[in-house]
Amino acid sequence: MFSMNMGIDLGTTSVQFLVQGRGVVIDQPSVAAYSTKDNSLLAIGNEALAMFGKNPKGIRVIKPMGGGVVQDFDTIEHILRVHVERLCKNALFKPNVVVCVPSSVTLLEQRTIMDLVTVAGAAKVCLIEEPLAAALGAGLRLESKPEGHMVVDIGGGTADIAVITMGQVSLSKSVKIAGNTIDEAIMRWCRRNKRLVLGESTAERVKKLIGYALPLKKPIALPVGGKDRVTSQPRSVVLTSHDIYEAMRDRLDALSESIREVLMTTPPELAGDIARSGILLTGGGAMLHGLPEMLSQDLKTPVRLAKNPRYCVIEGTGKALKNMDVLIRNGQHFRTREELLGYAED
Ligand SMILES: Nc1ncnc2c1ncn2[C@@H]1O[C@H](COP(=O)(O)OP(=O)(O)OP(=O)(O)O)[C@@H](O)[C@H]1O
Ligand SMILES: [Mg+2]
Repeated sequence: MFSMNMGIDLGTTSVQFLVQGRGVVIDQPSVAAYSTKDNSLLAIGNEALAMFGKNPKGIRVIKPMGGGVVQDFDTIEHILRVHVERLCKNALFKPNVVVCVPSSVTLLEQRTIMDLVTVAGAAKVCLIEEPLAAALGAGLRLESKPEGHMVVDIGGGTADIAVITMGQVSLSKSVKIAGNTIDEAIMRWCRRNKRLVLGESTAERVKKLIGYALPLKKPIALPVGGKDRVTSQPRSVVLTSHDIYEAMRDRLDALSESIREVLMTTPPELAGDIARSGILLTGGGAMLHGLPEMLSQDLKTPVRLAKNPRYCVIEGTGKALKNMDVLIRNGQHFRTREELLGYAED
């Protein structure tokens, strides 16, 4: 292999890599494990996640992405470097990379992310806003038609709500209501109402299995294990889909309210387009049972779930790699690291 073009989605929950011509080649949790003795890297991805919450004293497990932004730069650099080195070990040239960043990141944060990817082994790095990538990956055409679309990408750390027109993000809002905050709400509810302390992974599993955004006529039940809040003894309880609905309700209402706020600030012509074409949901958090129906009822607008929601953003980087010239013509800024350095010095 002589050279390759790559897309990277640095997500709160997972890091995904796409190689042009091959599709998604890496989909691993954004987690790393270190030795506490000498700080050496022991494992990344699935292997490190398996240790999370179960790690012995000599091992520290870190989730470096919080709320959709890089919080621990060293760890994310290690994760990126391991993946880039693995993928490029037979390549003669360094790869050109398109990286997805949340639409709310500052220029300084953009530069830091570009630095990380360059240090990890990339030749030229370009950034693309996450909601635009999500829209491209979900099948939105790139031609510069003046037609409004709303995309809501619900990940682990943030929900990115964006209105897109003519291949560009026209307005957007990023809120910290996503998969992780819903897991936390389930943990809080169980502590308070069942006196049971749940682990993070258990709360996430419960959400995926019996979490419904609209109450079911016939609730379903699931036995769940944790620790008694008072005695700290291991204990299990039976939770129902209605319990989880109650636990998530406040967060889901807040998400709906945030989308409504963006709709209210959308110019009337674009809002008219969205009323017709509806709102597109992408990201893993959008896979919550009944979420499109609940949002649609609440917002009185059609809402649909994209195909393969967890892969829309990364597939979008692939489309961006293929259509860089069209995106640039549409006004999207593909910046090299040197250009960003220039911005910072101005
Ligand atoms: N079937 C499901 N039902 C409900 N939630 C799910 C389901 N599958 C995955 N999720 C949730 O999706 C979230 C991860 O989504 P995704 O992979 O899009 O996040 P990310 O891109 O890493 O995060 P971000 O975009 O916020 O940085 C997790 O909170 C996970 O619990
Ligand atoms: Mg994401």
